[in-house]
Amino acid sequence: MDDKQLIISEADIRQRVKDLGAAISRDYAGKQLVMVGILNGAFIFIADLAREVSLPVEIDFIRVSSYGTHTFSSGSIAFTKDIELDITGKDVLLVEDIVDTGRTLLRLKEIFADRKPRSLKICTLINKTERREADVEIDYHGFDIDHGFLVGYGLDYAEQHRHYPEIYHLRDPKPA
Ligand code: IMP
Ligand code: MG
Repeated sequence: MDDKQLIISEADIRQRVKDLGAAISRDYAGKQLVMVGILNGAFIFIADLAREVSLPVEIDFIRVSSYGTHTFSSGSIAFTKDIELDITGKDVLLVEDIVDTGRTLLRLKEIFADRKPRSLKICTLINKTERREADVEIDYHGFDIDHGFLVGYGLDYAEQHRHYPEIYHLRDPKPA
């Protein structure tokens, strides 16, 4: 049986996603936003967030090589799926499930900056601070969580647990 503890309820997530959507709508008023979801983890978050944004929005996705069943980040990333939209001159928001060491997003920011968007910002549902290594600026975040391995609302451990409507702390993720 999974040893997991509820840390963020469905209602709290819904409220926070509403707040983020409102903030993004205000900040990008009059602009056309491109939201880029980082698969697989951000699929639920971006789906809910996009519906709280009252702007013309384009949505695309990338997928980068992931942890597999490991619970740490190697820092080097490879695309297994890239966006299909041309983002040159556009206002781009990268939408991530969780920032941990920050290495994935730092690298992604460099790659996306090379594509010459008009602006590039980051929105993550969870900002996990304890293991941060890379000094990456996060423009919007839903929740600050200090430590622990989280699952649910898109977040997985070895591809399990993504479908929960709430977020749990997984007490003992087994090393791969
Ligand atoms: P970073 O490069 O260490 O910031 O790695 C971020 C990525 O690691 C996220 O996009 C997640 O896919 C994964 N990750 C980091 N912490 C967790 C967690 O607590 N639960 C699930 N996935 C996590
Ligand atoms: Mg991810």
